[in-house]
Amino acid sequence: MTATPKTQPKTYHVKSFGCQMNVYDGERMAELMAAQGMTATDDANAADLVVLNTCHIREKATEKVYSEIGRIRKGAQEEHGKRPMVAVAGCVAQAEGEEIARRAKVDVVVGPQAYHNLPDLVRQAADKGLALDTDMPAIAKFGALPARRKTGPTAFLTVQEGCDKFCTYCVVPYTRGAEVSRPFDAIVDEAKSLVDAGAHEITLLGQNVNAWDDEAGTGLHGLIRALDRIAGLHRIRYTTSHPNDMKDGLIRAHAEVEKLMPFLHLPVQAGNDRILKAMNRSHTRDSYLRILDRVRAARPDIALSGDFIVGFPGETEEEFRDTLSLVDAVGYAQCFSFKYSPRPGTPAAEMDGAVPPEVMDERLKRLQAALNRDQAAFNAATLGKNCTVLIERKGKLPGQMLGKSPWLQSVHLTTDARIGDLVEVEIVRADPNSLAGVAKVKAAA
Ligand code: 5AD
Ligand code: SF4
Repeated sequence: MTATPKTQPKTYHVKSFGCQMNVYDGERMAELMAAQGMTATDDANAADLVVLNTCHIREKATEKVYSEIGRIRKGAQEEHGKRPMVAVAGCVAQAEGEEIARRAKVDVVVGPQAYHNLPDLVRQAADKGLALDTDMPAIAKFGALPARRKTGPTAFLTVQEGCDKFCTYCVVPYTRGAEVSRPFDAIVDEAKSLVDAGAHEITLLGQNVNAWDDEAGTGLHGLIRALDRIAGLHRIRYTTSHPNDMKDGLIRAHAEVEKLMPFLHLPVQAGNDRILKAMNRSHTRDSYLRILDRVRAARPDIALSGDFIVGFPGETEEEFRDTLSLVDAVGYAQCFSFKYSPRPGTPAAEMDGAVPPEVMDERLKRLQAALNRDQAAFNAATLGKNCTVLIERKGKLPGQMLGKSPWLQSVHLTTDARIGDLVEVEIVRADPNSLAGVAKVKAAA
């Protein structure tokens, strides 16, 4: 079952699946490898070492890993006549451990709390075959990672990891462990180095980011206010939040902190109280809606976002309609929606009342039609408005640049502004998935 020893890899490719926290972890793994003198390559088939940073949230996400390993091996063999080292990182590594090594014969298996050991594990695997580390020391890895050096105009910064909420459908409390906050100073230092390295916008990440706190009781709002003072940082975002941790201070920050963007991702999952209880969500439909009322009172133009699961065990048509009516009541700017997927080891996986796949398909379709309608309406409402756009990359057409509005909409415009510029634009076209803008005066960056 152990992989054969190999020569030490010189080039690497990191591929991340799933959530933004994985994107962040993927960047930090790449920095670790670079600090070892290895060279990054964009071509997965050409790399000596491929790191797959995996997601376990739904069954499909897990299966993707196995097909990806097969695809990379085939591509590397056909195009370069080689068999790369494969390291599986992330939540599938944590959840499946040796099972992946056995099933896919990979070289390294490393969990999300242990990836600071990746270079050592790679060395070990090259010398002796399979290396595995799925320990979960709380937050130890951050101190062991190299400093941030290079970034684009937008950057992720993980401030909190893990989850104690134990929603009955969710694997996160098992794969990412208990809720832990990184220390205030470490976060502010990392934010400063990201800004020094070129970031104009920072998105604070955590599975329950609004549960972030320290011994002084600073709270996420206090952290946001501290980041607000960093010169050169223009935009602050945070995701993902839990309704129960949506405290007054954070809501007030939305009214008072100009750099805090008018966007809130606050998953509700379902609109029916019996289902919410079975999901162990610890909020009701009404308590959720009341939070949104307070958020909107603080920041009337805020763009709201959420996550939904259809077909949770036992969900009836009538209960599903409560989700549709909640969507109607909120008017979301954008959302993610999923079919329930039973995850091994979670309480919901043992529940009766599986919803047939064709019913799930049909519910997801109806829900997405409603969400798409509201997203198009939200975009249409920005037509004619002026806003700043942070330019993130070049568009497909000559002179076209792409960026984001304060409400996280994609905006394209023709401009001589460069990546990283904040441009004042008028929105002149609104499509369901993006906006077109015309540059006005260039804002001071
Ligand atoms: N099945 C379907 N969707 C899930 N999510 C989490 N676990 C599951 C599951 N077992 C969704 C939730 C969560 C998002 C990140 O993924 O909506 O908010
Ligand atoms: Fe999963 Fe619920 Fe925790 Fe979110 S709050 S990570 S859905 S257990």
